Amino acid sequence: MKQKLISSVQITLLLSLTTVCLSGQSFPGKPKIIRCRSLEKETFSCWWEPGSDGGLPTNYTLFYSKDSEEKIYECPDYRTSGPNSCYFDKKHTNYRTTYNITVMATNEIGSNSSDPQYVDVTCIVQPDSPVDLSLETKTAAGITYLWAKWSPPPLADVSSNWHVYHYELRLKPEEEEEWETISVGVQTQYKVMRLNAGLKYVVQVRCMLDCGEWSEWSPERQIQIPSGQSPPEKPTIIKCRSPEKETFTCWWKPGSDGGHPTNYTLLYKKIASGFCASDICWNSNNIFKVEMGSLFNVRRTNL
Ligand SMILES: *[C@@H]1O[C@H](CO)[C@@H](O)[C@H](O)[C@H]1NC(C)=O
Ligand SMILES: *[C@@H]1O[C@H](CO)[C@@H](O)[C@H](O)[C@H]1NC(C)=O
Ligand SMILES: *[C@@H]1O[C@H](CO)[C@@H](O)[C@H](O)[C@H]1NC(C)=O
Ligand SMILES: *[C@@H]1O[C@H](CO)[C@@H](O)[C@H](O)[C@H]1NC(C)=O
Repeated sequence: MKQKLISSVQITLLLSLTTVCLSGQSFPGKPKIIRCRSLEKETFSCWWEPGSDGGLPTNYTLFYSKDSEEKIYECPDYRTSGPNSCYFDKKHTNYRTTYNITVMATNEIGSNSSDPQYVDVTCIVQPDSPVDLSLETKTAAGITYLWAKWSPPPLADVSSNWHVYHYELRLKPEEEEEWETISVGVQTQYKVMRLNAGLKYVVQVRCMLDCGEWSEWSPERQIQIPSGQSPPEKPTIIKCRSPEKETFTCWWKPGSDGGHPTNYTLLYKKIASGFCASDICWNSNNIFKVEMGSLFNVRRTNL
């Protein structure tokens, strides 16, 4: 019985070897290098998409050469950047060098290579998003603005002194669809003027290095712009009355207070002495109408 089983296994094996092509087992399909990316131009990674495995366990090997060097190297690290990837650490990354990279898929039957991918490290830089975006509203000279601050993306294990990031900031009122994007330059802070009071704004930042690509936008931060951060409106003098010709009183109506405690100061100057009847006054030189409505034109009249 045992003998029989083994021989039938052998027969099946033989059969499967001779009918390899018929049973759908074949050379692996061609792998494809889908992306190479550097976070900071001192290290980089490439990822590939395996082709079909030809129905068999398949190994992938990444080879590369540098500039016009003859020598061919193998990927130094298949683990750090996840499945189907190769990580080039600082030691294996040369700035201003073109890499010629290919991935070879190998199974029992044979192998198949990707098209070569040429990589210039400077131009595959896509940094991580900036971090620690913080928002604050400030008021100066009666104008409210938004003060946004952030930090460059943190880098693992590399010096950051030669990384000059460029930043973009975008914002919109929460309810709206359209973002307003502002090019910030190399600063890590920005003052946004012309905000609509009383609205909640959403803000994000992103960064770029050299000829690379923009990072993803940072996570959204929100801030409520206080309503009525505006100067008070013009008050109106309603009337002035002198009940007994010795004293008089004026009343005014405040305009909108802009949402803040507002002090009112009444100023006056004596411009003439004369006589009034109703709102028409006169003196030795002029006849004039008492003007209501201007804070600075409260006129004293001696009747
Ligand atoms: C390599 O893969 C391509 C596409 O998957 C396929 O057409 C080609 O036949 C394969 N080469 C070999 C030698 O099997
Ligand atoms: C890049 O590498 C591939 C595979 O090693 C090779 O066939 C190709 O000629 C190389 N390209 C250049 C420009 O050296
Ligand atoms: C795949 O790699 C493993 C481990 O290195 C090796 O034992 C195996 O023979 C390889 N298989 C093929 C088809 O090259
Ligand atoms: C209003 O007056 C009070 C008391 O004189 C003073 O403390 C306060 O600063 C003034 N507010 C403004 C906005 O001028």
